[in-house]
Amino acid sequence: MIAIITFGFLASLVLGCQGSLNASSPTIQLITYPIDHAEGPSWDGRKNILYYVDIHTGRVFSWNYDTEEINYITLDGTVTPAVQAENPDIILVGLNRSVVAVEWDGTNAIGNQEILATVAEQFNTSRFNDGKADKEGRLWWGTMGAEDTSTGDLTPNNGVLYKITKENLGDPTVEIAPVNISNGLAWNRANDKFYYIDTPTLQVSTKRTIRVLFEFDWFRIESFRRGS
Ligand SMILES: *[C@@H]1O[C@H](CO)[C@@H](O)[C@H](O)[C@H]1NC(C)=O
Ligand SMILES: *[C@@H]1O[C@H](CO)[C@@H](O)[C@H](O)[C@H]1NC(C)=O
Ligand SMILES: *[C@@H]1O[C@H](CO)[C@@H](O)[C@H](O)[C@H]1NC(C)=O
Ligand SMILES: *[C@@H]1O[C@H](CO)[C@@H](O)[C@H](O)[C@H]1NC(C)=O
Repeated sequence: MIAIITFGFLASLVLGCQGSLNASSPTIQLITYPIDHAEGPSWDGRKNILYYVDIHTGRVFSWNYDTEEINYITLDGTVTPAVQAENPDIILVGLNRSVVAVEWDGTNAIGNQEILATVAEQFNTSRFNDGKADKEGRLWWGTMGAEDTSTGDLTPNNGVLYKITKENLGDPTVEIAPVNISNGLAWNRANDKFYYIDTPTLQVSTKRTIRVLFEFDWFRIESFRRGS
């Protein structure tokens, strides 16, 4: 994700893929035109579409691996992350501090929007900054405090990492608080460790601290589904 944050466009590390990105050795390729602040990439293997966002323009993008076509929709507010739902025509978007289900198939016009949950009422100038869905369909999404647009100063300790499921939409579970900037979520290959970054200083990436937070067995719960 460092390339994304640093340069503001999406590059991909390709390991001998087929199709248009058919490099035979590891290589970095530019796949989209430059945007302001790319975040929250999410791959939908059902459609060969990569979703990503440009936080401050409110744009949610789709990049089609097969056609290299880029489309976007624009929401009212800051947007991040974008995570595909079980229904392939719905994308879950972090809009300000809310989880919003947006009807969009990645290609055609935007449909309805429905707010599923709103977090961090106690930090009403904070916003979502990064998030992922786990294998069981639970959302691990985190917030950060407001940034001063002229100085870049962050309101400290106003971030929270939440676990959001269809059962707790009214009161999402707080997993970690306080946080400065929720960022960089990933699971290990064995799927029993979860990594999470709090970017504390807004300085260089080497200042980031990476903590292993959870080591757990997976519990079977139903996938996250819109509105139910
Ligand atoms: C993919 O392979 C084709 C055919 O060999 C070649 O023309 C094209 O330049 C390759 N593309 C990339 C991105 O390497
Ligand atoms: C997000 O923020 C924008 C700009 O402040 C506001 O117009 C919009 O209503 C907000 N939407 C939600 C769902 O919070
Ligand atoms: C946030 O809450 C404070 C205190 O309740 C209120 O004065 C302020 O208007 C709120 N700001 C936003 C952006 O909702
Ligand atoms: C957030 O940043 C402030 C200022 O750098 C620091 O004092 C505080 O300990 C940080 N909070 C966390 C949870 O790391």
